[in-house]
This record gives sequence, structure tokens and C-alpha cells, in this order.
Amino acid sequence: MQFKSEKKLLVTGASGNLGTAIRSLVRCAGIDRNDLDITDAKAVKTYFAHHRFDILIHCAAYTDVAEAEKDHASCYRINVAGTENLVRSFSGDKFVYISTDYVFDGQRGNYSEDDVPNPVNYYALTKLLGEIATRQYPNTLVIRTCFKPDGPWKYPKAFIDQFTSHDYVSERAPDIVRASLTQGLFGLIHIAGTRKSVYELARKNSPQVGKMSLADVPVTLPRDTSLNSSRWNDLKKSIR
Ligand SMILES: NC(=O)c1ccc[n+]([C@@H]2O[C@H](COP(=O)([O-])OP(=O)(O)OC[C@H]3O[C@@H](n4cnc5c(N)ncnc54)[C@H](OP(=O)(O)O)[C@@H]3O)[C@@H](O)[C@H]2O)c1
Repeated sequence: MQFKSEKKLLVTGASGNLGTAIRSLVRCAGIDRNDLDITDAKAVKTYFAHHRFDILIHCAAYTDVAEAEKDHASCYRINVAGTENLVRSFSGDKFVYISTDYVFDGQRGNYSEDDVPNPVNYYALTKLLGEIATRQYPNTLVIRTCFKPDGPWKYPKAFIDQFTSHDYVSERAPDIVRASLTQGLFGLIHIAGTRKSVYELARKNSPQVGKMSLADVPVTLPRDTSLNSSRWNDLKKSIR
């Protein structure tokens, strides 16, 4: 599927999983750390003084959940200060911030936009702080989503006791582009798939994958962060 837009789009984190998938769907400029380090406030300001975009889809992030527990400073700098740098310097029509299902503690699942976040690890905390930084501005859209890289499951095992509404990134990216291009859509929206165990998701691409439990890993991971995407699913019916 290809999207057409008259708008000038920029994607941060262009070399990442989601950035790559988005760039395959719509004509857009893309930058990663080599082009612009988002933690460098001066460089970000200079960049936007010389480049004008209508829509910014901010995918760049420190995404290693386990490493983030050991290196709070780097995670904070990229996910919070980096996001603040972008939102302060960008002056286009719409700033789209990609957030995560991990903002919830995973006690219950089926979280809607009205539920109260309660992050249980440092990565998730910084993503929530990033949301707050962007939501001070009226032209922002926060998309809470979740996905895994395309291709075979990266690990020999997958959690049987962690539930999620993840799909693979190429299944999720079209709706993220669609929402980003939807005129007048601002605020907060959940865009995810149906609830399933991580093991079920892994088996879709790697039928031989083994089973493991959340109790087997040293980092605290939420048990059920499935998202309720009914608001988006209803809205999508009215979007051409
Ligand atoms: N993957 C998931 O399961 C998941 C779930 C929910 C939400 N999300 C969110 O979705 C977004 C995209 O995730 P992803 O999996 O596509 O990420 P990813 O594959 O880990 O890619 C991260 C991107 O961020 C860039 N980046 C990191 N530090 C940077 C810096 N200081 N300045 C500029 N760019 C920097 C990286 O560039 P370099 O490669 O050059 O360092 C890379 O292009 C993130 O906001 C993430 O929090 C992800």
C-alpha cells in the first residue's frame, strides 16, 4: 500500500524498525543519529531553521528496555530531552510522537486512552515523559502503539504469560501513516492489534519458538499491556 500526500513529511529514527516501514509507505524525508543527534539542542534548532516540514513523525528513541535500567542518563537524554528539543524547534502543522503500550503497568490489559498510565520500567517512564513534553503543544498527536520487527522471531523463546496487542511492524505502520496524515487528528490515540500472548505472536513467524515466562528475566516487564484501539478503529471507518 502506498499513501499519497501533498504534505512534506519528516521521520526521525528513519533507520529503525518503524522508520523503515513508514518510509516504504509514503514519500518522506528521513533522519537518524548520523544526520541529527536529537539530544543536541543547538543542532536541532539549526536543523529546523534550515529545513521546513509540515508533519514530523518522531520515531527516534532509546528502545533497549533492559539496557535502559543500567543507563538511565542516555535513555532520558534521548527519549525526554531529545523529544523536547524537537517539539521546541519544529514549527510545522503536526508533530506525531510514537509512544508505547508500556506506559501501562500491565495489571489489567485492554487499556483505553482514558486509563491512567503507570510505567513499571525506566524506558516506559521516559516514553511517558516524552508524551507529556509533546502534549503541551496543541498540534501534537501521540500514538500509543506496539509492534515487533518483521521476519523470524529474534529469540529462541517467547513469553507465554505476557499479553499484548503487538503485530509485526509492517502490519502496524500503515495505520500509523494514515493517522499521521489525517487532518485535524490531534491528542492521544491507541493504534494496535488484537490481544494475544507474546508466544502466539512469535509462533506466527517462527512456529518452532520455545516457551518462557516473565519470571525468567531480570527486568520487570508488564504482564498485559494490550491496548484498546476502538477509538481509532471507529475513526478509521470515516477516513477515506
Ligand atoms: N519496537 C517496539 O516494540 C515498540 C513498541 C511500542 C512503541 N515503540 C516506539 O516506536 C518508536 C520506533 O521504535 P523502533 O523499534 O523502530 O526503534 P529502533 O528500531 O530501536 O530505532 C530507533 C531509532 O532511533 C534513532 N536514534 C536513537 N538515538 C538517537 C539520537 N540521539 N538522535 C537521533 N536518532 C536517534 C536510531 O538511530 P541510530 O540507529 O542511528 O542510532 C534509530 O533510527 C520508538 O519511539 C519506540 O519507543 C516501539
